[in-house]
Amino acid sequence: MFLSILNSLYVVLKKDESEKEISNILKQLISYTNFHFATEERYFDKFNYSLAEEHKKQHNDLKLKVEEFKKRFDLEGAEILFDLIDFLEDWHVEHLSMHDKKYVECFNKNGLT
Ligand SMILES: [Fe+2]
Ligand SMILES: [Fe+2]
Repeated sequence: MFLSILNSLYVVLKKDESEKEISNILKQLISYTNFHFATEERYFDKFNYSLAEEHKKQHNDLKLKVEEFKKRFDLEGAEILFDLIDFLEDWHVEHLSMHDKKYVECFNKNGLT
């Protein structure tokens, strides 16, 4: 889901779509990310996940980073979004392998597969 939103952002950028179009996808990206983080964090609390605090910090840092990019986009325009896409791709790979991977055992133990 996340990657497909990133991909559509890349596609509109390539096609030189209007700022409004791009802005909509950015909003979609932010709301999906918030939804996804909130879901993970709800289970952290429910299952008393031991690494919850450091994981939530990762999520919050990402939200702040994306806010910064959004401000830069409003000031500098679509060019900066290539940086955003690169940043998010790297973040996503690292976050999945370093952080999301760690809660799988805890979630499974609590009956979530
Ligand atoms: Fe995740
Ligand atoms: Fe996460």
